[in-house]
Amino acid sequence: MAQPDLFSSAAPDPAAQRVAELHRVLHHHAHRYYVLDEPEIPDAEYDRLFKELQALEAAHPHLLTPDSPTLRVGGKALDAFEKVRHRVPMLSIRTETDIEATGALNFDARVRRELGLAEADPPVEYVAELKFDGLAINLRYENGVLVQAATRGDGEIGEDVTPNIRTIGQIPLKLPADAPAVLEVRGEVYMRRDDFDRLNEQQREKIAQGQRNEKTYVNPRNAAAGAVRQLDSTIARQRPLSFFAYGWGEVTPVEQGGPDFQTQYEALLTLKSWGFPVSARTTLARGAQALVAFHQEVGQERDSLPFDIDGVVYKVNSLALQKALGFVTREPRWAVAHKYPAQEQLTTVLDIDVQVGRTGKLTPVAKLAPVFVGNVTVTNATLHNEDETRRKDVRIGDTVIVRRAGDVIPEVVSVLLERRVAGAAQFTMPAHCPICGSAAVREEGEANHRCTGGLFCGAQRKQAILHYAQRRAVDIENLGEKLVDQLVDGGIIKTLPDLYRMGFTALVALDRMAEKSAQNVLDSLEKAKHTTLPRFLFGLGIRHVGEATAKDLARHFGKLDAIMDASVEQLLEVNDVGPVVAQSIRTFFEQPHNREVVEQLRACGVHWEEGEPAARAPRPLTGKTIVLTGTLPSLSRDEAKDLLEAAGAKVAGSVSKKTDYVVAGAEAGSKLDKARELGVAVLDEDGLRALLAQEPAA
Ligand code: IVH
Repeated sequence: MAQPDLFSSAAPDPAAQRVAELHRVLHHHAHRYYVLDEPEIPDAEYDRLFKELQALEAAHPHLLTPDSPTLRVGGKALDAFEKVRHRVPMLSIRTETDIEATGALNFDARVRRELGLAEADPPVEYVAELKFDGLAINLRYENGVLVQAATRGDGEIGEDVTPNIRTIGQIPLKLPADAPAVLEVRGEVYMRRDDFDRLNEQQREKIAQGQRNEKTYVNPRNAAAGAVRQLDSTIARQRPLSFFAYGWGEVTPVEQGGPDFQTQYEALLTLKSWGFPVSARTTLARGAQALVAFHQEVGQERDSLPFDIDGVVYKVNSLALQKALGFVTREPRWAVAHKYPAQEQLTTVLDIDVQVGRTGKLTPVAKLAPVFVGNVTVTNATLHNEDETRRKDVRIGDTVIVRRAGDVIPEVVSVLLERRVAGAAQFTMPAHCPICGSAAVREEGEANHRCTGGLFCGAQRKQAILHYAQRRAVDIENLGEKLVDQLVDGGIIKTLPDLYRMGFTALVALDRMAEKSAQNVLDSLEKAKHTTLPRFLFGLGIRHVGEATAKDLARHFGKLDAIMDASVEQLLEVNDVGPVVAQSIRTFFEQPHNREVVEQLRACGVHWEEGEPAARAPRPLTGKTIVLTGTLPSLSRDEAKDLLEAAGAKVAGSVSKKTDYVVAGAEAGSKLDKARELGVAVLDEDGLRALLAQEPAA
C-alpha cells in the first residue's frame, strides 16, 4: 500500500493517480506511434490502456479533462511537413468491440433501428471491405492531375506528403478524360508482407555492414507509415508501397458535371475504371447474415492474404441511406470496423531453448508465457540465430512483442527495455549440442551454429541414416524414408551401427512389413556391407564433404585411419580441400562419438578395399598461368578450363606479363591483341592438346 500523504489534506485518490499515469503513458505511446512511426507496444496493449482510461473517466466524470488522450482522434501533423487542411474532414470509423460474428449482427440491428425499419422490411444492402492495415491518404486531383497527397493527421489537418506518394507506382498521376475536374480519392497506403520481409532483410544486411542509422521495422504498417512520412523522398522511393482506394473526399458536384454516384459500390467501380486499385475482395452483402459470412470467410483467408488486415469494414451501400444515417461526433453511423484478433501481443520470455534441426542447425527459441495472437495460442517464437537474438537483445525474463501474421512462424519483434528485470543476462549460444553434447561450431561467414555430432546426434538421426543409405553413398536398397521413420520412432535404431544389429523379428513386427520385405531389407544391408572408401566417407555426412571430396580424400590418403588422424595441414594438401573443409573434417573426427560409430560400423562388417596413399604425382602444367579467349573448334570453354586445371594450370581471366600461354579460338578479341603486344605465346586448340600431353617437368 502507498504511504499516507502527510502534506495534503485530502487522501490520495487512487483513481486520479491512475488517470494521471494513463495520461502520461498514452501520450507517450501516441507520440511514438503517430509522430515517430516507432511504437514500443502493440496496438492491442495501447487499446487496453485506452479502454482502461475510458472506463475510469466514465466512472469518475470529474477526472475527464480536456487534455485527455481519449478526446484526441489520431495523430498530430509532424512539423517538418506542410500542413494541409482537409476540405472534407477525414473521418474515423467506429470499431465494433465484439470480435465474434455477433459484432456484425449488432451493427445491422443499429442501422435498421436508426433507419426506422421494421422486422418485415427487406434487408439492408452493405458493401463489405477489408480493413487494410496501413496509413490513410487523401489524393487530390485537379483537372485529372495529382496535385496533392496528404495524411489524415487529426482528421482536420494532415501532412503534405505529395513527393513521397508520387513514388508509389500504383497511384495514377493522371486520370482519364472522363474523371471530374476535382476528385479526392481516399484509401490506404500499405506494404505487402513479401516486400516487408525483403526490406527488413536488406536493413539487417545494412546493419551487419555497420550502417549505424539503419533499423529494421516492427511490422508492415510501421514500415509503410515510416516511408510515407520520410522527409527524404529518395529514400521513400526505395520503399515498396502499395495502395487500395476505399472512399473519396471532395468531388465536383453533380450540378457542375461531377459524377452522380448512388452507391458506395458503384463509386468504387468507377474509381477502379479511372485506374485506382480497388481490392477484389470488396463484396456486396445483403443483410446481417451476409456480413457474418464475409467476416468468417475473410477470417479464414487472412493468413494467406499477401498483406496485413486487422479486420473488415461494413458500409451501408446506398449513399442516400448513408446521408440519412449521418454521424456521431466524428464517426459515421453507416460504417463500422469489425476486427480480428490482434497479430501482435505482449508476453514474457520464460526461457530461451536451443533446438537442433535435422541437419544439425542450432536455433534459439524463446519459450513464452502463453499468449493469444493472430488467432492461435503461441508459446514458442523463433529467434533465428545468435546474431539475431543479440541484435534484438532478447533475454530471459524480458517483456517482448510477439507477432504472428500470415502462415509464418511467430516471431519476437522487439523487447520492452524499460520493463527488463535487473540482472537479466545476454544470450550466448551453448558450446555443445543440447541433444548429444558434441561440439557446436559456427563457421566463418555463417550465421548458424551447428552440432558436429552428425552420426551420433538424436536430432539428426533420421537424416544421417538416409544420407548413409542413399544410392550414391553406401547404397542400401529397400531402406526408404518411411522405414527409417518407423525404425527411429520405434526406438529400434539409435545410431548407424544399429542398422546391422536389428533382427528379422524386430523388422517383421513393424506396421505393414511382410516377411518377404523384411528379408529383403536384411539382404540389402548384408550386400551393402561391401562398399568403397569414397562411398563410406561420403555416407558419414561430414559437412562440406560431398562425393567429389570423398573421392579426393580416399585417393590421397588411401586408408580411412589416415584420414581420421590427419591434421588440418595434411588435409589441406588434398586437391580442392580448403581451410573450411579441412577444419570440418578435423572437427568431425575429433568427436569421440563419431569415431566410436565408425569403429562399430567396421565391427559390424562394413568393409572396403583400402589403397596406398597416392604418390604426389607432378602434373604437366603446375605453376603455369593460361588465358582462354575466343571459341575453340571442339572444346567448350568449361571443358578446356577443366582439362587445364586438372593438369595443374591456373586459368586466368586477363592477359599480363605473368601469363604463360594464351589459347585463342575464333573471334578472339582484345586478349589476343594484348598477348601479341606482350609477346606471350599463343596456341590454338591443337597446341593446347599438345601442351596437355606433355610429360611433367622434372
Ligand atoms: S473507411 C468514414 N474503409 O481504418 C469511413 N477505412 O478509422 C472512413 N481503413 O485509418 C474510413 N481499410 O485508413 C475505410 N476499407 C476501409 C479501410 C479503412 C482500412 C483504415 C482507415 C482509417 C481507419 C478507420
